[in-house]
Amino acid sequence: MLEGKKILIAISGSIAAYKIISLTRLLIKEGAEVKIVMTEAASKFVSPLVLSTLSNNKVIIDLFKEDLWANHVMLGRWADLMVIAPLSCNTLAKMAHGFCDNLLVSVYLSATCKVMCAPAMDEDMWHHPTTQQNIATVKNNGNIVLDVANGDLASGLKGEGRMLEPEEILLSIKSFFRKDNFKGKRVLITSGPTYEVIDPVRFIANHSTGKMGTALAEAFYLLGAEVTLISGPAKVLPQYKEISILPVVSAEEMYDSCLDNFSKCDIAILAAAVADYTPIEKATQKIKKKEAIFDLKLKKTKDILKELGKQKKNQIVVGFALETNNAMTNAETKLVEKNADYIVLNSMEDTGAGFGFDTNSVIVLDKNGDKNESGLLSKEDAAYFIASIIEKKM
Ligand code: CTP
Repeated sequence: MLEGKKILIAISGSIAAYKIISLTRLLIKEGAEVKIVMTEAASKFVSPLVLSTLSNNKVIIDLFKEDLWANHVMLGRWADLMVIAPLSCNTLAKMAHGFCDNLLVSVYLSATCKVMCAPAMDEDMWHHPTTQQNIATVKNNGNIVLDVANGDLASGLKGEGRMLEPEEILLSIKSFFRKDNFKGKRVLITSGPTYEVIDPVRFIANHSTGKMGTALAEAFYLLGAEVTLISGPAKVLPQYKEISILPVVSAEEMYDSCLDNFSKCDIAILAAAVADYTPIEKATQKIKKKEAIFDLKLKKTKDILKELGKQKKNQIVVGFALETNNAMTNAETKLVEKNADYIVLNSMEDTGAGFGFDTNSVIVLDKNGDKNESGLLSKEDAAYFIASIIEKKM
């Protein structure tokens, strides 16, 4: 996602500085190019040697060493994004008032790229009116200021002021670099299993974890779409708060929610493993163990994909087909019978594909008879693969 992006991390003096080791690793793993500057105070909290090893670049601290007085301007021009994390109270004050007495603030003042800050300080310092005024000034100057978290603080107290975790900062960085392939498009995605109630303590479900639906929701969001995810009781949900999640439990609730939201979307992708059958009667009391053989009467659930296929106007409808045998024939039949534009075929015969795996191998079939095969990919990459096919035909 961040291939080729140039990120300049600027670390100021706070105990949270040690977390930048993880942030650097996460950014490098995402394909970003990382350079790091830090204040003298920050170098007391985290080793510049560790950071230079992880970032593959020399960490720069002193403005006057090695002719950096001139180079600080180049650093600010090199970056696509400058991330000041942790942002200490002192550096915040300098930023708000234009001080230029160390390398970090000199780079900040000369940066031509957007600047994102992750504050870190004790709760009382965070709530001090001067700090809040400085935050407002820095925001008004066009910088992105991330929230602080509530929790254990270095002082031993609990409260607001903790720097966000590296994974949360990474989400904000990825959101910043959102692409616009699907800008203006509204995408509806279903995900996870459904639970069909038998009695107050039992239900019928399947092994779906929601990983594929979540990967699709995040991929379409990062490609610029406005995403709504209708999710059954899944183990995995999207992490971007901009993705709206509508939780449902049963196949019937998923059907109702899909129908309520379908007319507002341009693309619907039905990745959920919806129960095909549901008990005719749902017992209000726990069913007691009496008979040697117990008959549970089930009725078919409504087919959401088929209904959306019938109702669609200028919309793209994508279904999934999870098959254990005769995979291609079954997927082709579903494409026609459900009037879908695409069917994404998952075969449980493929190694590493199906429920619970982090990987998937899909074949995307369309109405013209085209078949695009992904090979074994992470579910995240499989989601981008599916998105790229839809985008090409849009
Ligand atoms: N689907 C749906 N509503 C249902 C059942 C399935 O919308 N009540 C959707 C799934 O989300 C998927 C597609 O239909 O996109 C195919 O689901 P699948 O379980 O593979 O096939 P079924 O149509 O249920 O048929 P079968 O179980 O007999 O293979």
